[in-house]
Amino acid sequence: MTDEPVQLWSVRKVYGSAAGEVTALDDVTVSFRAGTFTAVMGPSGSGKSTLLHCAAGLDRPTDGKVIIDGTDLGPLGETALTLLRRRRIGFVFQAFNLVSALTAEQNVALPLRLAGLRPRGVEVRAALAEVGLADRARHRPGELSGGEQQRVAIARALVTRPSVLFADEPTGALDRATSRDVLRLLRDLTGRRGQTVVMVTHDPVAASYADRVLLLADGRVVDEFTAADTGPGHADPGHADPGHADPGHADPGHADPGHAGSGGSGSGGSGSGGAAGRAPAGPGLSPELIASRMAALEASC
Ligand SMILES: Nc1ncnc2c1ncn2[C@@H]1O[C@H](COP(=O)(O)OP(=O)(O)O)[C@@H](O)[C@H]1O
Ligand SMILES: [Mg+2]
Repeated sequence: MTDEPVQLWSVRKVYGSAAGEVTALDDVTVSFRAGTFTAVMGPSGSGKSTLLHCAAGLDRPTDGKVIIDGTDLGPLGETALTLLRRRRIGFVFQAFNLVSALTAEQNVALPLRLAGLRPRGVEVRAALAEVGLADRARHRPGELSGGEQQRVAIARALVTRPSVLFADEPTGALDRATSRDVLRLLRDLTGRRGQTVVMVTHDPVAASYADRVLLLADGRVVDEFTAADTGPGHADPGHADPGHADPGHADPGHADPGHAGSGGSGSGGSGSGGAAGRAPAGPGLSPELIASRMAALEASC
């Protein structure tokens, strides 16, 4: 595992159609460091989803390179690409995309089955515990709230212990309070297990949970800033969770001390080894500042 599990080098994506060509990504070079939480923002049509799809191997760039954990995706055939995606990449969609006939635990087990593995109950339950849903294992999506469904989708994306978790507008279908739970969870994952997270959102409040923001316009990265650039000022007082000094247990609703050991030794090691002083201790980004940088961008377009 490299220090930058996701790298894009001069990535271009041109969609062709009878009516003409659309350059959705125009020479994008960007990388994502292990254990960081990045928000990708920009106006509608600026290329956010295309960036995520290319980075996740769901779509192939027209030009340039995408490197996941040191592997260049370009030369991989469809089968090899699918295998890499199943093992190394988690993806969460706005619409949850759970299989409605399956229970939460069956949904979470699905990526393991697709990878030809026989899911062990303990790892499936560990993934559900990690998102605070240990007690909902037997429920079907229709019996769960929107926020719970999205947390099941996150557990499903995490069960293969991917190098990176991509999320495209994961709170787009959720109300404010539920969104906050999902965003705190994503943020906690970066701290608790050193999970690299890349999230597309158009909401400055959602983006403020990240530790870095990339702004796209017309398929290019036009601005980028981190918590260190903007200083503290997060609107959500629960962010720092007063009364819970230990960042390893930042959210009592999700923390499950009993599961840390059963979740696999690899994650525990990388989480505690690399997470010191990272995301949970950070000040968070200010939604106001994010909104003003977005407004400046939109005014200049
Ligand atoms: N499959 C596709 N075929 C043709 N054009 C597409 C396709 N997907 C996206 N585009 C175009 O590429 C541009 C970027 O789209 P997208 O990445 O979805 O933007 P965003 O997620 O920022 O709203 C838009 O102009 C969009 O219309
Ligand atoms: Mg999009």
